[in-house]
Amino acid sequence: MTIPASIDEVQSQLADTGYVCGRALATVVFLSLRLGRPLFLEGEAGVGKTEIAKALALMLGRRLIRLQCYEGLDASSAVYEWNFPAQMIAIRTAEAQGGADRTALQTELFSKDFLIERPLLEAMRPDENGAPILLIDELDRTDEPFEAFLLEALSDFQVTIPEIGTIKAPEPPVVILTSNRTREVHDALKRRCLYHWVDYPDFEREVEILNARAPEVAEALSRQIVSFVQALRTEDLFKKPGVAETIDWAKCLLALDVIDLSPEVISDTLGAILKYQDDIAKIQGSEAKRLLDEASASLEPA
Ligand SMILES: Nc1ncnc2c1ncn2[C@@H]1O[C@H](COP(=O)(O)OP(=O)(O)O)[C@@H](O)[C@H]1O
Ligand SMILES: [Mg+2]
Repeated sequence: MTIPASIDEVQSQLADTGYVCGRALATVVFLSLRLGRPLFLEGEAGVGKTEIAKALALMLGRRLIRLQCYEGLDASSAVYEWNFPAQMIAIRTAEAQGGADRTALQTELFSKDFLIERPLLEAMRPDENGAPILLIDELDRTDEPFEAFLLEALSDFQVTIPEIGTIKAPEPPVVILTSNRTREVHDALKRRCLYHWVDYPDFEREVEILNARAPEVAEALSRQIVSFVQALRTEDLFKKPGVAETIDWAKCLLALDVIDLSPEVISDTLGAILKYQDDIAKIQGSEAKRLLDEASASLEPA
């Protein structure tokens, strides 16, 4: 599918995939597709950063290639590796057959047959459906040398493998980078990208997301759930609940046949929204009741 022609189209086509997208986010997505610039998304965990890459792949009918970052991730695990065990077997087989041509063997060992493509190389391969979506997820988990390496890779979209040659993407992939901001990502990398801070959605948008992701939940309960979660986010917590937690919680309540929120139900199911014992202990009991009263009051028509 071709890229959407306007910001409105981005918004409505993403909505068709079940992704609820505000105007500001739709604008950077549109620009990123239009200008071919990588999109850098930063925000708390569970606000829909990873999901946008999945939604975009669905929307455009493109392949999604994901590079999950972690501490110690290095270039070879991101681009390509040689299949060492397979090379060893080939050497043994050649030895057993006796007197193999050494140079021929060497060329064969470092040919495509023994190459393991990792996400960055994969993303440079042509695809009949158009350039893939390359999701570089949770970049803040890697270190600075890897960032520097990425900066270069993102600037020319080509990889040189000494034994094979240079591989260049015929059409650069659509690149989405995400960070949970556990540390600052270097300016140089940010400068290459369009940037957007993905915030918690406001009340109406979060209800909309819940309707899209858990349509079985009744409207009245959805509004109560979102209102309570939003009140909860104003508390001083070690880890605030994300949209993912709102959806999980709604599904739990549905499984328990809950029709109305009560302090008891909330206390019993807090584990679906809060994942740290200190946070749970803080909210359980009277605090849950106070927040529920606050949330109910905000739902009353003015
Ligand atoms: N705007 C949104 N529209 C639809 N679903 C959303 C939205 N934001 C978050 N979600 C839901 O929340 C879940 C968590 O989002 P995710 O992208 O994994 O968060 P992040 O990558 O920011 O930590 C997703 O699986 C998705 O179901
Ligand atoms: Mg994520």
